[in-house]
Amino acid sequence: MEKSIYMDNHATTPMDPKVLEAMLPYFCETFGNASSKNHSFGWEADEAVKSSRQLIAKSIGAKELEFVFTSGATESNNLAITGVARMYKEKGNHIITVITEHKAVLDTCDALTHEGFEITYLGVDKDGMISLDELKNSITDKTILVSVMHANNEIGVIQPIKEVGAICKDKGILFHTDATQAIGKIKIDVDDMNIDLLSMSAHKIYGPKGIGGLYVRRRKPRVRLTPLIHGGGHERGMRSGTLNVPSIVGFAKAIELANNEMSQENQRLSTLRDKLEKALMDAIDYTQVNGKKDSRLPGNLNISFHYVEGEGLMMAMPQIAVSSGSACTSSSLEPSYVLQAMGIPDVLCHSSIRFGLGRFTTAEEIDLVIEKVISSVKRLRDLSPLYEMVLEGIDLDTVAWTEH
Ligand SMILES: Cc1ncc(COP(=O)(O)O)c(C=O)c1O
Repeated sequence: MEKSIYMDNHATTPMDPKVLEAMLPYFCETFGNASSKNHSFGWEADEAVKSSRQLIAKSIGAKELEFVFTSGATESNNLAITGVARMYKEKGNHIITVITEHKAVLDTCDALTHEGFEITYLGVDKDGMISLDELKNSITDKTILVSVMHANNEIGVIQPIKEVGAICKDKGILFHTDATQAIGKIKIDVDDMNIDLLSMSAHKIYGPKGIGGLYVRRRKPRVRLTPLIHGGGHERGMRSGTLNVPSIVGFAKAIELANNEMSQENQRLSTLRDKLEKALMDAIDYTQVNGKKDSRLPGNLNISFHYVEGEGLMMAMPQIAVSSGSACTSSSLEPSYVLQAMGIPDVLCHSSIRFGLGRFTTAEEIDLVIEKVISSVKRLRDLSPLYEMVLEGIDLDTVAWTEH
């Protein structure tokens, strides 16, 4: 059997062995409850949580007490948006977000409409970028929160977060960003970028699954949240529940590794990605890259192969793990709403593949993927009557498919 190649690092990443090594002592040896104040088992666990929290907060220019541990970015997005909405509902009932956000943001906003909130969804241009003018024009005296993701999980597009932050600060509106895909790849400073709330998750950066966090600004302004989970008052009352010490330690280690290697790794990944992109574009006609080319994550390549179905292509090369849309929605056959929002026709959305390169992607793997994708697309197109018609010079848009 051929070796499988993992190229779906936007969905999740393998854990770095160094992260596992850092976590191991916190399962059976240093196993205390970080809230136990009366003995050394608790103190040791608390110490590990404290130093992890410091490291993670510092990595985004925040203070230790501004970081709340959660179960991942889904929970962080829920807590940020619902927590702000419920806390500030007397001030206003309007929230602005973007049509291409992750479902953890979109569905949270949708749920809030049942509590009387009104949501404005900003559109995106053909490259997947928001318009700052549209944002400014959407703000009303009832707007309490703007939520704009930092980097998109499907097309890797990086939004102008600093500019969004400046607009929000100027208007006195809280600004949340879902930075799940950006962490470890883009340098973030919450003060410089005027971010008030920021969601992240460890499993996208070679850390464990089921742990993430939310940055909540404590000064200028002090952001308050209505909690979603009630109980023992952990995390300063914002998120009750016994802390997952091994995962917290792993999360911090993952952040440390990502930050230490960020610039060389970004360089390495963009070189590999560009090689993959060029080879596929050169060898395969009727192909397009989706997302703003000069504002993308270094490991992202989202590409549509006309006259080939993404699902079919994935089946033709089962040893290559990629995605034909967001991992969260690819179990349904709906075209990707992110690509649709960019004005890409449904048929081309269905033809799109997301390659997500990561820390363990090698140059040899890129060569193998190039070879496999080219041969599979050619094979599928040889079976496609539509592609044959195009080669014969027929414009499919002008074909009268049924006789009247
Ligand atoms: C942009 C973005 N936000 C949120 C999430 C959800 O993260 P988690 O799996 O940690 O809940 C993901 C993961 O798919 C994501 O890519």
